[in-house]
Amino acid sequence: MQNVKVLKAIIIMLAIALIAVAYKFTKGSVAPSNDTRIAVVLSKDERNLILKEMRNFLISVQGVSEAISNNDMHQVAKLSTEAGMKAEENAPGALLAKIPLEMKKLGFDTRQKFDQISADATTLKDPLHSRKQLDALMKNCIACHASYQLVEAK
Ligand code: HEC
Repeated sequence: MQNVKVLKAIIIMLAIALIAVAYKFTKGSVAPSNDTRIAVVLSKDERNLILKEMRNFLISVQGVSEAISNNDMHQVAKLSTEAGMKAEENAPGALLAKIPLEMKKLGFDTRQKFDQISADATTLKDPLHSRKQLDALMKNCIACHASYQLVEAK
């Protein structure tokens, strides 16, 4: 009887721990911000890493847009692949855990949209189609910037 009670207590404790981890993963490391957005609290290095990725995003968007204008579909595919999910391969797990689930979804969706642009540029080779895909992708940039800011932990 005693064993069953101990077992039950352990199961309950594990369940609580699991819920806590799931909650943390969903909510991320957030705090109220100095404006209407949600502040994501990161270490200095983590914040710098994301901001670097952001500047690369801008370089990618510019490059893909220019390649579309030049009707260089090979270059469209190459640059969008580089900005696709491949770029997340080395994303640190500890950093991912600090990012709210909704922000992660927007981030990964943006990467996947780059991959889709790349795939379609290779098969369809239609610049207008790629242009429309890039227009849609940039709405993700706008949506995320409207919702989140990055602050350094004190
Ligand atoms: C998943 C969320 C998210 C997406 C998607 C996103 N950004 Fe950002 N970006 C941010 C956040 C958060 C900041 C920091 C804003 C702040 O702290 O005020 C930022 C900052 C930036 C900066 C400033 C970098 C610096 O050095 O200060 C640039 C440039 C940028 N983003 C470009 C882009 C472009 C272009 C896209 C789309 C291709 C994009 N971002 C998509 C979240 C996102």
